[in-house]
Amino acid sequence: MTTTVPSRPAANPILKTSGPDLLRDLDLTDDELGYLLELAADVKRFPSDYAQALRGKSIALLFEKPSLRTRLTFELAAKQLGGNSVFCEGPVGGREPLKDVARNVDRWVNGIVARVFSHDTVEELARWSSAPVINALSDMYHPCQALADVQTIRERFGAQEKVKVAFIGDGNNVAHSLMITAVRLGMNFTLGCPQGFLPNPEVVVQAEGLASLSGAALAITHDPRAAAEGAHAIYTDVWVSMGQERETARRKKAFQPFQVNEELFALARPDAIFLHCLPARRGEEATDAVMESDRSAIFDQAENRLHAQKALLLMMLS
Ligand code: CP
Repeated sequence: MTTTVPSRPAANPILKTSGPDLLRDLDLTDDELGYLLELAADVKRFPSDYAQALRGKSIALLFEKPSLRTRLTFELAAKQLGGNSVFCEGPVGGREPLKDVARNVDRWVNGIVARVFSHDTVEELARWSSAPVINALSDMYHPCQALADVQTIRERFGAQEKVKVAFIGDGNNVAHSLMITAVRLGMNFTLGCPQGFLPNPEVVVQAEGLASLSGAALAITHDPRAAAEGAHAIYTDVWVSMGQERETARRKKAFQPFQVNEELFALARPDAIFLHCLPARRGEEATDAVMESDRSAIFDQAENRLHAQKALLLMMLS
């Protein structure tokens, strides 16, 4: 077997030219997405080469919802690149209009990372902020998660292999971002979800257009077994997200046949990996056996949040 040493990306980061913000996955061009993944891999291999890259730069994290991975990886990314971060938790715009929040914070920092309930909130922040705004999860998209997801898949299978990614669960924000990002990169993508939990139809239309350009296959099925069949990566997420607690009983009933257990995982390729954005409710959307199996890549995926977001900050704030 020959091992290929990846070439290093250009010494001067490509700056984001498609617009200042990352609110949706489509706010990156194909070239920017490709470069980001190359840069994320390089940052992971040679972290000390980037230790001063954001010296003197600061980001503000405005979070309406709890977070472990996103908060810590953005804070560490800023610090390990030589910059700073400040964190503020609570309703963004709860005390004053969003346009005032944006025009205060942009005077102090070089970038705003916002985790919000409504996607409209990040759109409104971006409308008023002169500093770039990064969506750290909204009800529509989780673009930072998708970057780490595809980085993890490429690490296992390479950039050239025609992989099948099966997302089994809710057609939610995580599914939206992964669907868009995977098919852009030419990965086949199948969503297996119960009736009534389809993704946003506009996102599906966009993904279909991107799939036709890249040659990827895009499918949506209500049969979890068909979704899992022959997949390189099986991905799931919680059945009840923050803010959906009142729907718990209905959701648990609908999603039970979509649990990723050993039987369902066995339908994927023998070398398939298991992915989950985390946090998980073990024993619901995925069993302990799958999450702890030697084919589970969930902690590599979580690690890659750090590297992917370092690349993103380099591209957006350098
Ligand atoms: N996956 C993810 O966004 O994790 P946190 O909610 O912990 O940030």
